[in-house]
Amino acid sequence: MNQDRHSFSNSIGFVLAAAGSAVGLGNIWRFPYLAAKDGGGLFLVIYLILALTFGFTLLTTEIAIGRKTRQSPLTAYGTLRKGWRKLGILACIVPMMIMPYYCVIGGWVLRYAVEFIIHGWTNAATDGFFTSFITDSTSPLIYGIIFLLVTCFIIYRGVNKGIEAFSRILMPILIVLVVGIAVFSLTLRHDDGTGVRTGLQGLKIFAIPRISGMKISDLLIVTMDAMGQLFYSLSIAMGIMIAYGSYVKDEDNLMRSINQIEIFDTAVAVLAGVMVIPAVYVFMGEEGMSASGPGLMFISIPKVFMSMGGIGRILGILFFLMVLFAALTSSISILEAIVSSFMDEFGFTRKRATIVEFFIALVFVVLVCLGYNKLYFEVNLPNGAVAQILDIMDYISNNVLMPVVSISTCVLVGWITGPEMIIDEVTKGGARFGRRSLYIVMIRYVAPVLLLILFLQSFGVFSFLK
Ligand code: PHE
Repeated sequence: MNQDRHSFSNSIGFVLAAAGSAVGLGNIWRFPYLAAKDGGGLFLVIYLILALTFGFTLLTTEIAIGRKTRQSPLTAYGTLRKGWRKLGILACIVPMMIMPYYCVIGGWVLRYAVEFIIHGWTNAATDGFFTSFITDSTSPLIYGIIFLLVTCFIIYRGVNKGIEAFSRILMPILIVLVVGIAVFSLTLRHDDGTGVRTGLQGLKIFAIPRISGMKISDLLIVTMDAMGQLFYSLSIAMGIMIAYGSYVKDEDNLMRSINQIEIFDTAVAVLAGVMVIPAVYVFMGEEGMSASGPGLMFISIPKVFMSMGGIGRILGILFFLMVLFAALTSSISILEAIVSSFMDEFGFTRKRATIVEFFIALVFVVLVCLGYNKLYFEVNLPNGAVAQILDIMDYISNNVLMPVVSISTCVLVGWITGPEMIIDEVTKGGARFGRRSLYIVMIRYVAPVLLLILFLQSFGVFSFLK
């Protein structure tokens, strides 16, 4: 087939690139918050069980589709089965929708890293800093465009000199930073007049299961939160793992790589919890932990660094650099899903595909930024959130399109081509498929049902449980 298609130089290069995609803002700003909210260790246990079953099934399927077809997400489904091309189109629209707003958020992170380097927490920790930054008419745009340009530059350099080379440098640094900050977080203690709070007490909130007083409906909410988080965290259903899978050599052991990617992603999420929860608890108490997403990252955490005093500046720099690297290795994977699709579908060179997508993304980056000033409006989403343009794009891609892509993939593989197609691909080099029966049951029955529940939840169908 495609003789000059690039490939990762070895399985470590692939694992680091795929883990780079999986480890992102979701691990750092969403996982710790969900764990604290959803009964600590209980959430962790449910998450781990789902990772080994549900997450494993979906990740294996996409990577194997990529390697088998050696095609981009846009063209892979049609190659697998005639008549399924439409699914490829959908799987390519998802990263195209995510790309612009991911760059805008990446720009916010970059802004904070720069701010901490120049001024420390002096301004960043003040009330209103975040809001006045994102509602500014030029500054978020400039940072977002810089982030987009850096992402384009890496993708333009190609699979080996771009994606792989950068992941090999950034991922080890990221791990060192996450472990270092997590250990430091555990040593914290602070007395704000109401008594001393320590990092280890904070760790308990994160790690020890709290089940007393829980109803069955609470358990369902925890399970759905864990499932949604896992789905997003493994970068599934946006074509990324198909694109990356298409660059894996036939002789590489897929099963081993898949396990390593999952371990990597889960370990960073857990470490992020150890890093964030104790620090926020020590300096802001239990009520400080209710913030999630942007509020946690851009408002609460800078205040935590301020409470630390002098060392807070250094830690703040390290923290935002770490988040920046995590976001960058994710954004390059999103762009690669798009660029590889343009190359396979239209015969574009890598350079041309990158430039075309740069301009498409640019238009939407501008729109997303304007959504916080000139085009500001508020919309209520079916899941109860109040949204601006960024949230609407996030909602459509994550809550509507991604489950549709994933459910369709399960139907295609489970019922049309048959799961053997994936199993044969994974075991091609003689590797053993450890969880074979589990995989078959999951892809045919359990995963589609779980995904359907997740899909219905986005429309507020289960709001009576709350
Ligand atoms: N998986 C990434 C995370 O956990 C998120 C992501 C979203 C990555 C979209 C790529 C594309 O944060």
